[in-house]
Amino acid sequence: MLGLFCDLTLAAGLGTCVADIGCGPGRLEPYLAARGLSPRGIDLSPQMIRVARRDHPGFAFDVADVRDLPMGDASLAGVVCWYSLMYLAPSGRPAAFRELARVVKPGGYLATAFKAGDGQVRRGGRSTGLGVEFDVYWLSPEEMERQVAGAGFATVFWGGRPAEGQEGCPQGFLLAQKS
Ligand SMILES: C[S@@+](CC[C@H](N)C(=O)[O-])C[C@H]1O[C@@H](n2cnc3c(N)ncnc32)[C@H](O)[C@@H]1O
Repeated sequence: MLGLFCDLTLAAGLGTCVADIGCGPGRLEPYLAARGLSPRGIDLSPQMIRVARRDHPGFAFDVADVRDLPMGDASLAGVVCWYSLMYLAPSGRPAAFRELARVVKPGGYLATAFKAGDGQVRRGGRSTGLGVEFDVYWLSPEEMERQVAGAGFATVFWGGRPAEGQEGCPQGFLLAQKS
């Protein structure tokens, strides 16, 4: 899925600048760079950005919220949101998708991975034993596609796979192109 995102983004000829939004510890940056893209990592958590900078010093990482991105209009060839949109309550989703659409050039791509389910909120974090809990929404693929389409992206591909190991629910994947 990410390989397809990289290939289509390069083929679009809109440059190589992409953002990995909700990048966590930055594990996707080396992969995206190896496939020819120039990724910048963004995460709401200063602790995650500290770890990403420590573990991947060759890349740029910044603290920011997907609902208020520090990038100019139509400044990116694409965005990746890998398991990072599922923490948004329904009220926060329109602002997030509006921002994603604002920063991507027409013809650029959005790739997202998410936990697929019934859309109900669940309590996450308990299984880590770290004493940190948070709300997480297992979005239905239809809801994800509705949000993406509402922001001006057209679906190129979507798919999923059954839960593996401790995942607890199927995983959804959506690739869309900005109109
Ligand atoms: C499950 S982790 C995924 C990290 C990374 N994408 C990966 O696949 O390894 C989700 C990340 O999304 C970040 N996140 C959650 N809400 C966010 C928001 N509103 N804006 C930016 N990042 C957010 C969290 O801080 C966390 O690092």
